Amino acid sequence: MGAEAGATIRGACVKDLQALLSFYESLDPESLYRRFHGAVKDLEEYVESLKRSRAFVAIAEVGGEIVGAGEAVPVGGGAVEVGVAVRKDMRGKGLGTAMARGLLGLCRERGFWRFVAYTDASNLPALRIARKFGASVSYEGDLAIIIFELPSPSEQR
Ligand SMILES: CC(C)(COP(=O)(O)OP(=O)(O)OC[C@H]1O[C@@H](n2cnc3c(N)ncnc32)[C@H](O)[C@@H]1OP(=O)(O)O)[C@@H](O)C(=O)NCCC(=O)NCCS
Repeated sequence: MGAEAGATIRGACVKDLQALLSFYESLDPESLYRRFHGAVKDLEEYVESLKRSRAFVAIAEVGGEIVGAGEAVPVGGGAVEVGVAVRKDMRGKGLGTAMARGLLGLCRERGFWRFVAYTDASNLPALRIARKFGASVSYEGDLAIIIFELPSPSEQR
């Protein structure tokens, strides 16, 4: 997918899943809450489920170590749920934006046209990334719902 801030960004495969789990397990509780908005209780099961759900997974690595990861999980109706996380000391260097861009490009190529993300309403970095892509943001209490849509296949005809 490319390089950003000294990190290599690439699509992940099955043999990366153990390292992906270790990456998520290394995140602090606030980062995990922001990434999964409380919906994921069991990280091992979540990572395992990525295979079943045919998710698109991007990882950012420095020296072979994962410093960021993002997933786009197909949720039906041409939509994917997107989430990204970057290790604290690697934030603010463009990695979150680059992984989101990579995932969007990959999903678009595969015919997905609706991108949804959930986070907490005070998550300014995530909201800035959303705005860069021209996504719309709505709020349900503390939850921010980010939606980015391309013209649907029927609209393109
Ligand atoms: C959200 C997250 C992935 C962003 O990663 P990142 O690598 O720092 O992203 P970028 O470097 O591309 O920065 C994204 C934007 O946030 C801004 N930003 C970074 N830190 C910020 C802060 N503390 N306050 C406000 N804005 C901030 C950057 O300036 C950038 O905006 P700009 O390009 O308009 O200047 C990272 O903060 C993270 O892992 N958070 C915990 C998990 C999470 O919240 N995931 C998102 C919900 S799924």
